[in-house]
Amino acid sequence: MINKETEQNTVLQKKDKEASTQKQCKIYIINSSPRKGRNTDEMCKSFKKGVENAGGEGKIIYLNDLIFKGCRECFACKLKNGKNYGKCAFSDEITPILNDISHSDGIVFATPIFFGDASGVMKSFAERLLFPYIRYDKDFTSIAPKRLRTAVIYTMNVTKEIFENDYLRADNSGQLGLFESWIEKVFEKPERICAHNTYQFSDYDKYDAEIWDANDKEWQRQNVFPKDLKNAYEAGKRMASI
Ligand SMILES: Cc1cc2nc3c(=O)[nH]c(=O)nc-3n(C[C@H](O)[C@H](O)[C@H](O)COP(=O)(O)O)c2cc1C
Repeated sequence: MINKETEQNTVLQKKDKEASTQKQCKIYIINSSPRKGRNTDEMCKSFKKGVENAGGEGKIIYLNDLIFKGCRECFACKLKNGKNYGKCAFSDEITPILNDISHSDGIVFATPIFFGDASGVMKSFAERLLFPYIRYDKDFTSIAPKRLRTAVIYTMNVTKEIFENDYLRADNSGQLGLFESWIEKVFEKPERICAHNTYQFSDYDKYDAEIWDANDKEWQRQNVFPKDLKNAYEAGKRMASI
């Protein structure tokens, strides 16, 4: 006859085994900054640490290391009964990543702000990832295989006020408001993590950049950027914990 203690131990062992065989949450962090080790990259690395701290797996993809193009407008992804319906038919170095992302648990779109918008490289990537999943019906219904958790990481020169008033706008009609609304049509609503007033040059005196006050930038770098990194870390933890 099995005694009560043995029975309890067996139940606990079963639970441990179930937990260890549960699929680890996988998050893709897509970095469109060409500069490794700078603002956007540091934010991505911090987010990844948060993911890992919560027991997930974070993978940073450096878009600028890959040779790829934006949408080719072949419309194979919209061809009724076509073999590529709902998928990007164009093949290049991001093709395997697009496939892997669709079966992951979350995606982060990390971009330096260029001309008040996501970078061109990020927008090319978003065209290839999002467009095949968006149906041309009146609601632009998503046919993505999974509704992934999402976040956006933006780093930029301007202040929070300019970012919110000009790039986002209260009704989300700014360039970045629209960028986020397309992400939300396909996946979940993105959590937004920002680093404003970033440190752009290693030595401001050497560059033609008179509108920026080097001392103010240095102060921001020392006092505000560490908080931005912490926010990215916490957001990574949150995404992997849901
Ligand atoms: C081509 C280009 C355009 C930019 N346009 C803007 C802009 O419109 N608004 C802004 O706040 N910062 C702008 N910036 C500054 C970058 O967004 C900012 O320095 C960012 O933190 C750089 O990221 P990184 O350190 O990862 O390269 C621009 C930078 C470049 C190179």
